[in-house]
Amino acid sequence: KTKAFIFDLDGVIVDTAKYHFLAWQKLAVSLGITFTHEDNEQLKGVSRVRSLELILGLGNVEATEAQKEEWLVQKNEDYLGYINKMDDSEILPDVMKVLNFLKENNQPIILGSASKNARPILEKVNILHYFDDIVDGNDVSNAKPDPEVFLVGAKKANQTNENSIVFEDSVAGVQAANVAGMISVGIGEASVLNEAKYNFNDFTEISEEFLLELINQ
Ligand code: G6P
Ligand code: MG
Repeated sequence: KTKAFIFDLDGVIVDTAKYHFLAWQKLAVSLGITFTHEDNEQLKGVSRVRSLELILGLGNVEATEAQKEEWLVQKNEDYLGYINKMDDSEILPDVMKVLNFLKENNQPIILGSASKNARPILEKVNILHYFDDIVDGNDVSNAKPDPEVFLVGAKKANQTNENSIVFEDSVAGVQAANVAGMISVGIGEASVLNEAKYNFNDFTEISEEFLLELINQ
């Protein structure tokens, strides 16, 4: 059988959350806003524009559209500074095992990410060629938990939503998959991702038997 295997990027394939944090924190400090690791958790899966609004909200900072635009550009430049130093050592444990197994079994592999930097990141860590299609923040207008990014991904793989499996580390992403009627696999703390159909702390816990079950069910 053939299914669509849709992967989120940040926090699922690579741990870029730490770079988003450093870039947002630099901006927050420059605006006199306290921004903690805990605050950063709330930004997982959240678009760049929405993330800025949440951070400004933390400090009750009001700004013009032009200021916001400037801060968004600044944040992304700082973020890209970290991304440019990435290599394949930053791929999270056993992600390659899973991608290779799916390839061997001729399953479509799709990226479904809110990031507008998805392609350069996949290139930096040398796995762009694993993906049959990429749907990212440049392709959709509705952010997770809206399911648009996954719906487009399933369509590109010519699969129904029921036959699509989504790997996600964010609550918004799990909700998006569920709303679409897809099979959600939460990667991270089960207590946080309790709405997911399946839960694993990371890919080292995902067996070939489990993947075969997903393919054949
Ligand atoms: C992912 C991350 C978010 C990030 C968003 C947009 O969903 O989890 O933290 O804000 O992508 O990323 P971008 O690279 O376009 O700023
Ligand atoms: Mg993520």
